Amino acid sequence: AEDGYDLWLRYRPLGSAQAETYRQHASQLIVGAATPTQTVTRQELLRGLGGLLGHAPPLSDSVSSDGAIVAGTPASSPLIAQLRLSTKDLGRDGYLIRSVIVAGHATTVIVGNDDVGVMYGAFHFLRLLQTAQSIAHLDLRETPRIKLRVLDHWDNLDGHVERGYAGNSIWDWQKLPDWLDPRYADYARANASIGINGSVLNNVNANAQILTPLYLEKVKALAGVLRPYGIRVFLSVRFSSPIELGGLKTADPLDPQVQRWWRAKADEIYQYVPDFGGFLVKANSEGQPGPQDYGRNHADGANMLADALAPHGGIVIWRAFVYSHEQPDDRAKQAYTEFKPLDGRFRANVLLQVKNGPIDFQPREPFSPLFGAMPKTPLMMEFQITKEYLGFATHLAYLGPLFEETLRADTMVQGKGSTVARVIDGSLHGYALTGMAGVANIGTDRNWAGSDFNQANWFAFGRLAWNPSLSSRAIAEEWVRMTFSNDEAFVKPVVDMMMGSREAVVDYMTPLGLHHLMGNGHHYGPQPWYDGGPRADWTPVYYHRADSHGIGFDRDSSGSNAVAQYAAPLAAQFNDAAQTPEQDLLWFHHLPWDYRMRSGQTLWYELVAHYTRGVDEVKQMRETWRGLDSHIDAERYQQVAAFLAIQEKEAQWWRDASIAYFQSVSGLPLPPGFAPPQ
Ligand code: GCU
Repeated sequence: AEDGYDLWLRYRPLGSAQAETYRQHASQLIVGAATPTQTVTRQELLRGLGGLLGHAPPLSDSVSSDGAIVAGTPASSPLIAQLRLSTKDLGRDGYLIRSVIVAGHATTVIVGNDDVGVMYGAFHFLRLLQTAQSIAHLDLRETPRIKLRVLDHWDNLDGHVERGYAGNSIWDWQKLPDWLDPRYADYARANASIGINGSVLNNVNANAQILTPLYLEKVKALAGVLRPYGIRVFLSVRFSSPIELGGLKTADPLDPQVQRWWRAKADEIYQYVPDFGGFLVKANSEGQPGPQDYGRNHADGANMLADALAPHGGIVIWRAFVYSHEQPDDRAKQAYTEFKPLDGRFRANVLLQVKNGPIDFQPREPFSPLFGAMPKTPLMMEFQITKEYLGFATHLAYLGPLFEETLRADTMVQGKGSTVARVIDGSLHGYALTGMAGVANIGTDRNWAGSDFNQANWFAFGRLAWNPSLSSRAIAEEWVRMTFSNDEAFVKPVVDMMMGSREAVVDYMTPLGLHHLMGNGHHYGPQPWYDGGPRADWTPVYYHRADSHGIGFDRDSSGSNAVAQYAAPLAAQFNDAAQTPEQDLLWFHHLPWDYRMRSGQTLWYELVAHYTRGVDEVKQMRETWRGLDSHIDAERYQQVAAFLAIQEKEAQWWRDASIAYFQSVSGLPLPPGFAPPQ
């Protein structure tokens, strides 16, 4: 059934002409199976080629005809060793794919320095076929630009996924370790196909139980499934675990007993999982315990854990997502204020994980000013793949452009070209460790991600973690071809629809730099009027500040002065409303309703126009999809169509509720010709 389970690894038969052409370059397959990684690589090539071409090429040991495919490392394959290709600088993960002559025969070689690199190369090779590219004259070389490419699962041990909209957790803790759901291996294949090499199994709001022997047995079993695919397991840990599990009176990071407890715990974990990746930690954030409970700082906390993991090669990923409603300062400023002074104070095996924007995964935020501000501390990107603030499962919002916008943003800290991508790939500040994390959108739904199009966000995250300079449009095109069809009449309109989809969400939810206007707690639907919560920092009116005079959060030098956290040229630009990009206008400025926008319209009219445009864009998406039914299976076609109908209804809800509310505050008439909802 076309239920989306196969993700972008569908391997359905290609058209006969295409298959015939490819078969000329797939006459025999020479790939070892001496290690688990070689074995899964061979399986994938057999499965992929078998599916795409109708039957898999026969396995063999030597090249005896034109069209052989040889995959391996110089160490694993004498054939590849003979070619004397230089593989040293490929590292563990890099690979070459080349069309060469072996024993007088045209041959395709997939070469790595390590089995894992060969596996990534095999997936790339299959992708070429899946996306209908020529494989006749290949000369490809790929190495990842970022070392740690991880998914953060916000999965609780009881199976609930925090901010998950695709069913329950895929980790069946209750049946582990003895029952290994085949889904785990499919999860690993999907991740390996896009280069993801780490998985944080549990929620950042962590339960201490994960570190008990009972659970470590289960973690070990999962690690065993993921390992052949080059994926290492990480765990989120609760900072107060020494109290909850160890019976200690304190979790003070400077207390020798506490330090001993973590060292022993780390030693124990590595007995279960010798290649364990390390800890992810949310500390002193939204009520979680942390070093500040004992008058210590974040570096004290991170370093204590880092010291426990260091003997085993583990790392600590410490989150910079901290803010407190007891702190009167603008929430957007707090992470920078907290962490910037600690630059250079962290151990070498600590990465600081920073959300893309200063607040919280909004449909649009300017990049976090921490990027570029901590040259002596490796900063790791945290994106959210699950659409907590972008319509949960049903709204079609391709996040590639959001990720790309952040990665390409120029921090200016070392002059022009100091992009966020160059901060996190380590090239700007010479970081030794580099990483990108995505909060997973994966659950037990048959299609894994809650909708077919949400799969694209997982895919795009992985591709950008491998190479943050890829274009989100090119990624969308790959994904559409792999997931649906190579038919040009389908690909082009669907890619265009995806590319505009995130901006549509921005328009109908939070245009012009507005943010955090969604329903309290659950974060679904509009609630810009809400001001009843005990915490101002979770309250929409705190963020939009609309009154009869105007709207927007004043973060310029006359307000919270958050602009000053950016490099001088940007600070100056953002400090001036006339120079601030209009997409971020109300993020940085509180402006009168009759402020003149670049279009010549008033701010009020323009705001209304954006909301309306958002709805129109969704109508257009539905229209586009309506014409495409003949190109794909009815099952997926219909679900997408139904979800787009939900999206249109809810875009209208956002627009009407928001405009009605803001009008009640501004007291201004609606623009002439404003069409009431039909
Ligand atoms: C958001 C989200 C929480 C999550 C938090 C975090 O605030 O709503 O569910 O725990 O981010 O990233 O820690």
